[in-house]
Amino acid sequence: MAVVTPRAGEEHRIRNRNPKIKFSEDYPLQWHRTIPEFACACNAVSLLMPHVEPFVVRSVERVADRLDDDVRPAALAFARQERQHHSQHRRFNDRVYAAHPGLAWIDRLMAATFRVLDRRSDEFGVAFSAGAETIAYAGARWTDDRIGLLFDDAEPTARRLFLWHLAEEVEHKGAAHDVWESFSGNRFKYVLGTMTSVLVLAFFAFIGTLGLLWTQRKLFSPRAHMNLFIWSCTYIFEFMPLAVISALPGHHPNDLTDPVYLPTWLKIEVDHEL
Ligand SMILES: [Fe+2]
Ligand SMILES: [Fe+2]
Repeated sequence: MAVVTPRAGEEHRIRNRNPKIKFSEDYPLQWHRTIPEFACACNAVSLLMPHVEPFVVRSVERVADRLDDDVRPAALAFARQERQHHSQHRRFNDRVYAAHPGLAWIDRLMAATFRVLDRRSDEFGVAFSAGAETIAYAGARWTDDRIGLLFDDAEPTARRLFLWHLAEEVEHKGAAHDVWESFSGNRFKYVLGTMTSVLVLAFFAFIGTLGLLWTQRKLFSPRAHMNLFIWSCTYIFEFMPLAVISALPGHHPNDLTDPVYLPTWLKIEVDHEL
């Protein structure tokens, strides 16, 4: 079943939700009963969110008044979703850093990196954001294909945080592309922005995962590294075709067929409570 979201110019369906996720003071950072390395990888991604997502929000909001009128409403709704994502992740990350203050250097390095990226042009910012959204959308598709394997044994609060975030990444998959197309449309800058985004996000996800494996005494676990290697390879197979077609003229993310589980989960588990 294809779930189609509107293009620029059509009424958008990007909703602002507060999924009311609460982590107790003693919430276990190891929230996966059977695949602890998966929790480490997800937690590493979570540590990145209060850096990359505010950068995306700043990049979009900075150019908002220079966008086409039919793009601006979805762009601002998209920025509101991203703001909600990173504020929820920040609350979880506070627990991570409180439990493992030795990881705070990763946070400082990420902050310094995004301060440097902030000095680049507005055009770079929107291209980076469009690339980051392709990465996120590929992550949602990759997860959707393995949802039971990855999340059946996850603690419900962490499960809710990651599924809600990924489902909204599906919902706003076309918004950053429209911002880039409306503001710039320069394909070379788009490729450059996407490549920078891939390098920055992959680097921090990698060192964050290693740091978290170390806190869980799993740094030298062959099984953990085997699983992480398999997940990385399969994710690359998901991401690469999307990255290539995203750079082609005439492509729009809304032409892609969405995964089914995440949007359905969002409707049943979050929307009906709001
Ligand atoms: Fe997000
Ligand atoms: Fe996003």
